[in-house]
Amino acid sequence: MSTLFITGSGTGVGKTLVTQLIVTALRHRRRNVHALKPIVSGFDVSAPEESDTAQLLDALGMTLNTPNLDAVSPWRFAAPLSPDMASRREGRTIPFDELVGFCSRQTADTTVIEGVGGVMVPLDESHTVIDWIAAVACPTILVTGSYLGAISHTLTALETLSAQRIEVRAIIVSESVEQPVPLVETAETITRHAGGTAVTMLPRLSKRAQAPDLIAALDL
Ligand SMILES: Nc1ncnc2c1ncn2[C@@H]1O[C@H](COP(=O)(O)OP(=O)(O)OP(=O)(O)O)[C@@H](O)[C@H]1O
Ligand SMILES: [Mg+2]
Repeated sequence: MSTLFITGSGTGVGKTLVTQLIVTALRHRRRNVHALKPIVSGFDVSAPEESDTAQLLDALGMTLNTPNLDAVSPWRFAAPLSPDMASRREGRTIPFDELVGFCSRQTADTTVIEGVGGVMVPLDESHTVIDWIAAVACPTILVTGSYLGAISHTLTALETLSAQRIEVRAIIVSESVEQPVPLVETAETITRHAGGTAVTMLPRLSKRAQAPDLIAALDL
């Protein structure tokens, strides 16, 4: 069994898209895969179909219903804030040990976990996402964009993960709507400073069918 943690340089960079593409490609290869987005903030109970969880359930071929929402995203919060702030507004906290236990007891051959925001988003008063990745003790994919500022955000995240001895299997640069230079120039620049970590480009997709084969690129 293997686990892969999809983290990012920040929010809205393409983590859910990358998770979906990996899940879909593994399912096409008839691999036994599950996906988790254990913590969701900004979850609207009146429109669950708009959530990341719904997108992952769709990729998994699972129905959007409460048991399946619970199986993918047990911690759902209404406020579109970091999990510590979103949970506090509901008088709740995310029990860190339960979060790690939930991720670690999965039984699929491959479990793909989408994090939340960037690598140091607070989960509670003492843990951030990087503590979560370290406790699950699995490799990561670092998703970033090609927006102005993405290079520094990416290299900062990479340094931070490396300092915790977390394996970054690849960096995926998902093309942003607005970018100062072509995607390839951002990807090449990141590559030069990434100390040998593989860098894969994910061009702006208008249809999912255009997606590059991330499984081959990531050697999954
Ligand atoms: N390469 C791309 N081609 C087309 N659309 C993209 C691409 N990358 C990201 N997007 C779109 O940008 C939006 C944000 O991407 P996504 O939801 O995957 O980000 P995220 O990192 O998961 O965000 P969050 O932090 O909210 O979980 C989505 O509508 C997604 O489909
Ligand atoms: Mg997402």
